[in-house]
Amino acid sequence: MTQEELQALQSEAIAQVEQATTIQAVQGVRVTYLGKKGKVTSLLKGLGKLPKEERPAAGAKINEVRVAVEKVLQDKQTALEEAALAAKLQEEQIDITLPGRKAPQGHIHPLTKVNELIQDFFMKMGYTVEEGPEIETDYFNFECLNLPKEHPARDMQDSFYITDNILLRTHTSPVQARTLQKHEPNSPVRMIAPGKVYRWDYDATHSPVFHQVEGLIVDKDITFADLKGTLELFLRHIFGEETKLRFRTSYFPFTEPSAEVDISCVMCGGEGCRVCSHTGWLEILGCGMVHPNVLKLNGYDPDKVQGFAFGMGVERIAMLLYGIGDLRLFFEDDVRFLQQF
Ligand code: PHE
Repeated sequence: MTQEELQALQSEAIAQVEQATTIQAVQGVRVTYLGKKGKVTSLLKGLGKLPKEERPAAGAKINEVRVAVEKVLQDKQTALEEAALAAKLQEEQIDITLPGRKAPQGHIHPLTKVNELIQDFFMKMGYTVEEGPEIETDYFNFECLNLPKEHPARDMQDSFYITDNILLRTHTSPVQARTLQKHEPNSPVRMIAPGKVYRWDYDATHSPVFHQVEGLIVDKDITFADLKGTLELFLRHIFGEETKLRFRTSYFPFTEPSAEVDISCVMCGGEGCRVCSHTGWLEILGCGMVHPNVLKLNGYDPDKVQGFAFGMGVERIAMLLYGIGDLRLFFEDDVRFLQQF
């Protein structure tokens, strides 16, 4: 092969490389010229047929062509690979300057919030927090709270019975009895019991399941004045220092004397409005001095210790505190409602 022919072969190969627009095309050109049966490779293989003296010079020339073609192939391949990477980066580009999207944050349920307010207050006053089962025996729910079978006051508590002796607790008061029975007779008790209670009732101010917080204190020389002072501090803490209290005589089988506590209306401050039915007062909880029979029924001696107890509805407090008109909103889990707290 003449020098011109070699030059032509080299130019032809380089022209093909230049025309290649894909990596596969470049590889095709490589096979055509430098592959096992490629045009340049065949020339190198044919060297053996030349006279011995001509081989080195001819070999060197063919090798020059091989090196030149190899270089353009390599350059082209690198260029194509770089272009492909640049295109990919361009395509997958993300704008890191966009502000992040905040994950939506949940809210504390208003009932949980009020429960925490109540618990915080009483824990600071040295009360323990007690629990009891929601499926309760007739014995704890009624009997040892001075409500024997056939007692007419059982009727006030619209109970869900499971069997004759098992029911969903209608109030948190059974935890009073359970806690007294857990203690050494006549040893002091100072507890609250928050939890769910059940009654068959359903309207804008009643739900078949609702929450109460019970309170019980038993010790030597506990008087009605202690009850009054405690509830006054508590209700002013929750509803504001301006809040006025009114104790009305009432009846509960487990307290004697018993009272219902009203606070001055949180909406009108006592002037009289729709919320307080124009009385200026809102009923907020039931309370009284622990009935001697309750102490006896739970192993305590009413001649040695006395106590007071109270019970309140958490929904009612939350409704008054946040101005919520319908109790059913607490249980519907509508985020538009819950997001307001
Ligand atoms: N258990 C009563 C109720 O559910 C409330 C109460 C508790 C009253 C403790 C007096 C003392 O209505």
